[in-house]
Amino acid sequence: MKLRFDGGGSSSEAIGEYGINAAQYGDLQPRLQAARTALKQAWDDSVLGFFECPDTDPQPIMDWAAKIAPNFTDQIVIGIGGSSLGTRAVLESYAGELNGLRTHVTENVDPSTYLALLDSVDLSKTLFIVITKSGTTIETMAKFWIAYDRVLEELGEDAVATNFVGITDPKAGSLRPLSAELGFKTWSVPPNVGGRFSVLTPVGLVPLALAGYPIDELLNGAKACRDAVFATEPGQATLERCAADHYLLHQKGYAQTVMMPYADRLDALSEWFCQLWGESLGKAKNRAGEIVNVGLTPVRALGVIDQHSQVQLYAEGPRDKHVVFLQLEDFGTDVNVPGRSGFPGALSHIQNKSLSKILTAELDGTQAALTAAGRPTSRWVFSDGNPVEIGAFIFAWEYVTAVMGELFDINAFDQPGVEGGKLIAHGLLGKSGYEEHARVVEGANRNVMSIV
Ligand code: PA5
Repeated sequence: MKLRFDGGGSSSEAIGEYGINAAQYGDLQPRLQAARTALKQAWDDSVLGFFECPDTDPQPIMDWAAKIAPNFTDQIVIGIGGSSLGTRAVLESYAGELNGLRTHVTENVDPSTYLALLDSVDLSKTLFIVITKSGTTIETMAKFWIAYDRVLEELGEDAVATNFVGITDPKAGSLRPLSAELGFKTWSVPPNVGGRFSVLTPVGLVPLALAGYPIDELLNGAKACRDAVFATEPGQATLERCAADHYLLHQKGYAQTVMMPYADRLDALSEWFCQLWGESLGKAKNRAGEIVNVGLTPVRALGVIDQHSQVQLYAEGPRDKHVVFLQLEDFGTDVNVPGRSGFPGALSHIQNKSLSKILTAELDGTQAALTAAGRPTSRWVFSDGNPVEIGAFIFAWEYVTAVMGELFDINAFDQPGVEGGKLIAHGLLGKSGYEEHARVVEGANRNVMSIV
């Protein structure tokens, strides 16, 4: 594994007064050390289960997947947020050939895409993986019931038991009792692992194993990353340095974190990151109950595409963004711009250059230009994005997020802000006892004006 972090672009050496200097980092040391102590305690007390995930034995899941997969050609993963983003990110990052089930991850409740997906598969050869930790999520449960109805109508009752798998809390929610009633298998999500930290539990591991992804290597990478943190003195780990950079930049007014991979197959990792970062750190109150309205707004960008869209803003707009680049050194494939004559002379220097070389030059150029403009940047470098590196990246950001929660003195593991909208949606859809919530919408101040 060669996953590396380079925070030099955020330092005062690189960007002068806008960057972080050694004294600021030194001053933060006691708080970084306290963060490590608190998190280690939470791990020892089994409060933060994400620390234990890398120790999961992948064999039972791999054995089960090897037994089940030959009965199907496709799997449809129904989930949302922490129950889907990680699976999609890991799967899309893979360059090798997957010899398992064709995987379709469905997240939204858009009827056109969902119906198109259901119509595109042979139901008798499709395994539905229904993932909801809480077992109560409207979007997931609605789509599960639609799929259940189709399977029942087209294939009969027996197929429900074989063509559905649930992944949910061991006790709570509606999916578990329903799966028992309908007779399909379930895997459990450990209660001490929050949704957005759950990709290394059955939430991600089961569909990934069914797809043929090497989940053992993914877990090995996460474990190596975790062990590397705890092999260093508190406050000295690379990831603590990374968290310190994000925290100190936030204190200087950099309230947005742009994650910008320069590789299409790393793009979904930034989507996964956005949920982890946004939902964990965006909080109204600190642990003392004081209003702090803290958070870092995660922003997705993709190199080089967004150089032609967003980088102008990053370079010259408000000084509120820290751009985190993701670099892939080896794409596993490449192609040169042909040296054939007749190419415009002004661009002849790109002839015989590979696309990966051009991409890297664009990345280096963009980072250097942002540095010259006094804008903080950092870079994560993958060798070839193999599963070990991806597992390490996942654990790395989970840990950095947890450290940030400590530095902000907030609970990074709840999401009270999204509950309100869910209650109102339940009320609007007619749930008994939720009428009051629905009335909030009736009273909403609208000002609709005609455009065409
Ligand atoms: O991080 C979280 O807990 C949430 O974002 C959830 O992942 C998301 O709301 C989906 O919840 P569930 O898995 O209960 O359907």
